[in-house]
Amino acid sequence: MNQFLNSLEIGAQGQCTLPQEFYRSQELFERELRHLFLDRWICVGHSDNLREPGTFLNLKLGSESILLIRDHHLKLHANFNVCRHRGTRLTEAPCGKLGKTIQCPYHAWTYQLDGTLAGVPDEKEIAGFCKADYGLHRAKVHEIGGLIWLHAGREVGDFDSRYTGILSRFQPWQLANLKFGSHREYHVKANWKLILQNYSECYHCAPVHPRLVELSSPTSGGNDLVEGPVMGGYMDLRGNAQSMTCSGHKCGEFISGLDSQQQQRVYYYVFFPNMLLSLHPDYVMIHWLTPVTFDQTRIDCRWYFPTATLATQTNSIEDAVEFWDQTNREDWQVSELTQLGVASSRYTPGPYSNREAMSAALDRYYLQQLAAANLESPQ
Ligand code: FES
Ligand SMILES: [Fe+2]
Repeated sequence: MNQFLNSLEIGAQGQCTLPQEFYRSQELFERELRHLFLDRWICVGHSDNLREPGTFLNLKLGSESILLIRDHHLKLHANFNVCRHRGTRLTEAPCGKLGKTIQCPYHAWTYQLDGTLAGVPDEKEIAGFCKADYGLHRAKVHEIGGLIWLHAGREVGDFDSRYTGILSRFQPWQLANLKFGSHREYHVKANWKLILQNYSECYHCAPVHPRLVELSSPTSGGNDLVEGPVMGGYMDLRGNAQSMTCSGHKCGEFISGLDSQQQQRVYYYVFFPNMLLSLHPDYVMIHWLTPVTFDQTRIDCRWYFPTATLATQTNSIEDAVEFWDQTNREDWQVSELTQLGVASSRYTPGPYSNREAMSAALDRYYLQQLAAANLESPQ
């Protein structure tokens, strides 16, 4: 049985927000991308969005672009988007569908979907050339329980010891069986950490989200993962609410397999550093964050539902999508205002409330991860 902790037990007392440099330093931003996003396992997508053979997703992180490609045997590959001839990017499309191969637009070197080099025009004109030596550089990809994970570093850490145990707790929501329903994309003028900190507390909910607090009390709930790469807990739905939707009604039926307690809660987890997993009784919402600059973040928000919900015309998934689209925009607005404020010469770190214990825990984990990568703080 999970043990849920209240804010005081997590130990936020006396902790302050991060200094200005953490939101403004280009040098730190580049180190974060390398060490916190590329050199570790991160979840980058849901299997249902790369189901068809030939579909691909182009993940851009800083100067890197990595193509996640489903081949015709339904195996997933992650290849660096760098032609082995003169380095040209093979495609700039954010996603799409390929035939049997992918061809460089410059001199038409052609690669199989698994990254091996298939063909080179006038191959004999290249001295001592062997095609087998020039496959695309590979990154590691791992697909488990409906989630796609990527490691783009050279030293690949063990996935199982870090994540497999944690992921088992999300099994009741059957992520692998849920189907993609809708998405929204946002460009937020705020550092990526401000988005995570905002998601991790509901101290702001009463002033920022009047509709949310009608459905779920900001002081309800508790946290069950308070340190490590996945952190969060749950909030209770009020008696008059079945889910987080504009109407307060559920979209279709509850996800089968949830117990009565899970049907009355919404669970919110940060998957450090780039994903927010929100588990509802009737659907799952996932935000994926891509840092663009130290003060801009692209956010892809996607909603997943049981097949039966999407198959029944009378079910309105828009009830959920519109609720969170509005709530998202409210969150992005205060995050952008914070980014503007922390840029001031008069900004100094402020005290976290006990009701922001998870944001404080997140900052602690972030600082630990920087230290673990042998990084110095920018001060
Ligand atoms: S750079 Fe790709 S084929 Fe020449
Ligand atoms: Fe919020």
